[in-house]
Amino acid sequence: MYFYQKLEEDLYRLGVNDRRTARFENMFPMPDGVSYNSYLIKDEKNVLFDTVDASFIKSFCDNLNHVLEGVDLDYLVITHMEPDHSSAISYVMEKYPNCKIIGNAKTFSFIDNFFGDDFKDKYVEVKNGEKMSIGKRELEFIFAPMVHWPEVMFVLTSAGELFSADAFGTFGSIEGHYTSTLIDFDGKFLDEARRYYINIVGKQGRSVINVLNKLSSRDIKKIFPLHGPSHVDADKIKTFIEKYKIWASFEKEEDGVLLAYSSMYGNTEQAVDILACELSNLGVKNIHIYDVSEYDYSYIISDAHKYSNFVYTAINYNTDLYPRMDAFLRELAGTGFQNRKVSVITNMSWGGRGEKIAEEILASSKLEKIGETLQIKSSLDEENVEKIEELAKAIADSMK
Ligand code: FEO
Repeated sequence: MYFYQKLEEDLYRLGVNDRRTARFENMFPMPDGVSYNSYLIKDEKNVLFDTVDASFIKSFCDNLNHVLEGVDLDYLVITHMEPDHSSAISYVMEKYPNCKIIGNAKTFSFIDNFFGDDFKDKYVEVKNGEKMSIGKRELEFIFAPMVHWPEVMFVLTSAGELFSADAFGTFGSIEGHYTSTLIDFDGKFLDEARRYYINIVGKQGRSVINVLNKLSSRDIKKIFPLHGPSHVDADKIKTFIEKYKIWASFEKEEDGVLLAYSSMYGNTEQAVDILACELSNLGVKNIHIYDVSEYDYSYIISDAHKYSNFVYTAINYNTDLYPRMDAFLRELAGTGFQNRKVSVITNMSWGGRGEKIAEEILASSKLEKIGETLQIKSSLDEENVEKIEELAKAIADSMK
């Protein structure tokens, strides 16, 4: 049976929802699933933009066959070769043997690596900035390397439709509403779009800025990403592009404090809770506490990028940094985290090597230290509480 959504008179979304895969890239949890979007333009030439994960070949091909209504597929444009979008290529090519594959030199290198060279005679290589008419529309190929893989290219049509590969995508399956105009854009959508971007593309901020600069003078009327809803509203497109600029520049989105802690028996946790209360008493908004042993790192990392201030604990474990904090900080640093104000709490029961290791992990993150490191010895005492009050004041002052 088929299922598709008609986005315009001659433009269709043929993608699928994946609510069964637990973790995207076998790493990031997807409690609300994810959509793999594929789009078809029926013009003088019929052009398919990307495919879907191979687990959904049957549904995807039913959709494609139905919308094509017995006519041939002329082109398959590959904007991105990650297998969540490309692993159904061979099926499409077998079903539509006259179809040509549009990509760039790097795309074809990936196709050769994944599928062998069976489709070599179907390759149509395009260069950055090249244009191609498909009838009413002209397609322009805009290379966007490292957003998210090296071969990525966007396609901008003469009608102002941007096929943006992973960019402007999000976790979460499409729940009927296939445009961001119809959903809670500023709430859950933006949180999941941020978590997707920061964790998956985040480190490549410079590449994202480069392609946003290329597009800055272009009239983008609609955005069709490979995950999540389409964007068809001018204000929402403007807002989303502005968010991307902030994320790609590693700037804070809002003033706020993200406290990430590890605590074996609750003593360090108590210090974090007292600090949060003191911050609240001082009028600080947006305080969020995460236990790194409980939460998936992708959520904590997303919020660390969102807010101005970051507090972490550096307790010891077997004379090293507590392993879960060690792993979390390495993953955070790996997303290009930088330009934030940072404060530190240690528990010195077994010495202070944990803090040194944490500082080494974050050495390239260009962080501004706020307040002195709060040093607990096993459990809190009155002097610690006074120091927490001082630290809270220093953090609150740093936001003024
Ligand atoms: Fe949705 Fe980078 O693949």
